[in-house]
Amino acid sequence: NSPFVIAPSILSADFACLGKEVQDVLLAGADWIHFDVMDNHYVPNLTIGPLVCEAIRPHATKDGKPAMIDVHLMVEPVDRLIPDFAKAGANLISFHPEASPHVDRTINLIRDQGCQAGLVLNPATPLHHLDHTLELLDLVLLMSVNPGFGGQSFIPSTLNKITQVRARLDRYQQETGRHIRLEVDGGIKVDNIAGVAKAGADTFVAGSAIFGKENYADVIKAMRAELAT
Ligand code: DX5
Ligand code: ZN
Repeated sequence: NSPFVIAPSILSADFACLGKEVQDVLLAGADWIHFDVMDNHYVPNLTIGPLVCEAIRPHATKDGKPAMIDVHLMVEPVDRLIPDFAKAGANLISFHPEASPHVDRTINLIRDQGCQAGLVLNPATPLHHLDHTLELLDLVLLMSVNPGFGGQSFIPSTLNKITQVRARLDRYQQETGRHIRLEVDGGIKVDNIAGVAKAGADTFVAGSAIFGKENYADVIKAMRAELAT
């Protein structure tokens, strides 16, 4: 039972057969499904919404049990989509503080809908957004690219930020006994995942690195081998 979670981003999957892609990647050893929602407003791209989440929900199972659907909202405004995603079967909903005028309200809305809550920080978003919010969060998602597109290169300066958030979450866990996940998203590949883990991440989003290859199991196995080093 590895503490590490691999969450393939279906942004790089074949949208013409998404149900099968979701099944295949979970069968290949993935833990969660990362679901990127873009609105052509907060980010310059347009992707998928609650209808597609609902459509993949029955396909997202692992060992006969529902697998986590990890919804990454890159939309503004945020709040009105949250009940729809909760109804569509999302388990975890994360959003960007820049996209909500009332961050505490948005986090509470997610929790009231029965979902876990995550806050997403872009490469240039300061860590003070974790002040007054950590108590309500299940996960912090650090972007290692600027959001909007799959297939971008990992920004090396984000490693230092991962280390800082790790220290903060460790301190918080010592004080409260509560574990908050640290997820990293953008440009994660077999050859850099070990470094990202060493910096302190425990949950890894990978889109193009997994769906860009023929054999998803080979990539996921190679990632787990790197994580074990
Ligand atoms: C970027 C998205 C990512 C992206 C990751 O805005 O949030 O989840 O799909 O894709 P790769 O792994 O290709 O960088
Ligand atoms: Zn994402």
